[in-house]
Amino acid sequence: MIEYENLIAEAEKFVGLNSHDHDGGHDWWHIKRVRDMAMYIHSMEKSGDTLVVELGALLHDVGDSKFLKTTLDETNRLIIDFLFPLDVTKNVIDQVLFINNNISFSKGKKPESMTPEFMIVQDADRLDAIGAIGIARAFNYGGFRNNPIFDPSGKEKTTIDHFADKLLKLKDMMNTDTARELASERHEYMEKFLRQFAKEVTIGRDLK
Ligand code: ADP
Ligand code: NI
Repeated sequence: MIEYENLIAEAEKFVGLNSHDHDGGHDWWHIKRVRDMAMYIHSMEKSGDTLVVELGALLHDVGDSKFLKTTLDETNRLIIDFLFPLDVTKNVIDQVLFINNNISFSKGKKPESMTPEFMIVQDADRLDAIGAIGIARAFNYGGFRNNPIFDPSGKEKTTIDHFADKLLKLKDMMNTDTARELASERHEYMEKFLRQFAKEVTIGRDLK
């Protein structure tokens, strides 16, 4: 089997090539943050298999429906065709596919069985959606889609709505204690941002 470090280097190259048309919130640096965070949680929690965590994190966004119109089968084919020739075992490939196929918040439901590796990578991906980096990613994605920042009439879906719809819910959805602790600080930071935002956009509104 190919050496661990070489396999990871190949996976980095593979996802780098697959993410160049993504927005700035879903680029290689998002993948790298998720990988680094997953490895941090893995080291703190002392659970899960290192290779599955690292490959699962690196490949978690392959086939993201926001960018690639691939079906689940096509996404899995992409991942299998990449990992199989590198002699990655079927068991590891299956676990990486499980993480990729079930990680998304927007895809919704909790899978029936959670693996430690899945819980870690999902936490890492969710942590990147909250706090200062989460705020930056939300407005970047909203800009990419040309969504309004804020609409006081409430007629249009805005990026500010996305906080209540999704981002403020994430802290209670963390799987691991390590992520829960990090999420709590990031959550408070978002609440502070939203308080300040509301203050700035409402001043003088009643005078006119
Ligand atoms: P997942 O990749 O888990 O399905 P999403 O695609 O919903 O999660 O979110 C990925 C990133 O894009 C997050 O940082 C999220 O805040 C941002 N994002 C998704 N939808 C919106 C939206 N409607 N407005 C602003 N940001 C969004
Ligand atoms: Ni992601």
